[in-house]
Amino acid sequence: PSLLALAALLGYLLGSIPFGMVLARVMGLGNLRDIGSGNIGATNVLRTGSKTAAALTLILDGGKGAAAVFAVRAWIGEDAAQIAGVMAFFGHCFPVWLRFQGGKGVATFLGLMLALYWPVGIACCLTWLATAVVSRISSLSALVSAFSSAIWLSLLGQPSLIAAAILMTLVIFWRHKDNVARIAVGKESRIGRK
Ligand code: G3P
Repeated sequence: PSLLALAALLGYLLGSIPFGMVLARVMGLGNLRDIGSGNIGATNVLRTGSKTAAALTLILDGGKGAAAVFAVRAWIGEDAAQIAGVMAFFGHCFPVWLRFQGGKGVATFLGLMLALYWPVGIACCLTWLATAVVSRISSLSALVSAFSSAIWLSLLGQPSLIAAAILMTLVIFWRHKDNVARIAVGKESRIGRK
């Protein structure tokens, strides 16, 4: 049990690194809280105008979720890896360093899904992409992708992850409540426009 607690802590700490915020500051792009949605994720980093910073944020925020899974899988095993991945997601959404006001969890969710069971990770990424191509709305793509994860898990044969996926989907919807309100009145910003 203490090993599982360590795995959870490691996952949380990895997930809590706010890469978008750090990159925006280091690259002189300003304070993300004053830009666009105020969020710390790749979508909002893109609104600074730097595609490089946005791509790096996506890779690093996704990578920390995957890293938590891979590290704990090698160290302890599969169940602990699942806990570490979910805790990385919670670390990103509720980081102690930002008074628990973190991101919306999408990149980290995709990263940990790819690491836990790559077919479902790929299916979720493709779902995000397909929605984005049609709608040009990042938040809507995230909501559809998160919602699809439990369906992909049952279709592609990894039902042991469904409870975790539903929990994270609920948090993703909760963290997107402002986006949902904007989508409902047709005011959500579109990718490629500031
Ligand atoms: O991943 C976050 C994305 O779904 C929405 O970001 O900045 O448009 O609220 P944002």
